[in-house]
Amino acid sequence: MAAQFRLTQISDTHLARRYQPLIDNFHRVSEHIDATRPDLVLNSGDVSFDGPTSRDDLVFAKELHNALPVDCVYLPGNHDIGDNPTAVGPEPTQLPTEQSCEAFTTVLGEDRWRFEAAGWCFIGLNSLIMNTGLHGEAEQFDWLAAQLDTVLGKPVALFLHKPLYLDAPYDPEREATAIRFVPQPARRRVIEMFGKVDLRLVGSGHVHQRRDYTFELVRHIWAPSAGFIISDEKQELIGIKETGLVEYRFQPDSFEVRHVRAKGQVNVDLDMLLGKAPAN
Ligand SMILES: [Fe+2]
Ligand SMILES: [Fe+2]
Repeated sequence: MAAQFRLTQISDTHLARRYQPLIDNFHRVSEHIDATRPDLVLNSGDVSFDGPTSRDDLVFAKELHNALPVDCVYLPGNHDIGDNPTAVGPEPTQLPTEQSCEAFTTVLGEDRWRFEAAGWCFIGLNSLIMNTGLHGEAEQFDWLAAQLDTVLGKPVALFLHKPLYLDAPYDPEREATAIRFVPQPARRRVIEMFGKVDLRLVGSGHVHQRRDYTFELVRHIWAPSAGFIISDEKQELIGIKETGLVEYRFQPDSFEVRHVRAKGQVNVDLDMLLGKAPAN
């Protein structure tokens, strides 16, 4: 068993041929990955700008990742397959469908995975399929139960696109922010299932803010977007609004996290990207 495992998490790249500033930021991240050569790269979702309506965005994103000198794994984001229904918020404009999930796995590969390295068990989940009632949702929970049954005491790192919660598992869902987190009741079920293993780390993306906090024994890492930030007018400030990436170094029974920016990576603002004057 290798004594250490180096994982680089990138997130929310939102790639499409038509958004050059995001492609430029991806190239800066690519250069950083080329220079640092981790064992694996994870893109934790919103890989593409608009996967559900433009399969070409998924294809283009995959082409750019294929050029990396390191193997990549992926997890779907709401901009790749559609967003979760929630109990308290309005229905999202694009719900995941069998077709959008199929497009993701066909173009990018598995939308959930488990592997072991440096004495750790790594699990990646499709958080967007939760609460949809699609066949794949139940199938994923069955698969997860089987994976957790065979962890055999190893420390566990969970990755998914959406953070599980804001600060604590019992935080109430609010209409304005329900789509920011894994929705109830799926959230409760995920937390209960991981309560049976030695969960140490939850890594997520989606919020486009960098954050690092610990609740009880679990450290939560919010990876920033590699591509763009969202203005305070459009989204409250919780962590740090800055493009970047996250580097992990796992060793048996311990891990380190580094929050870094690639050289030349810039804070593209969503309003500027879409060609709108920033609301002030
Ligand atoms: Fe995103
Ligand atoms: Fe997202």
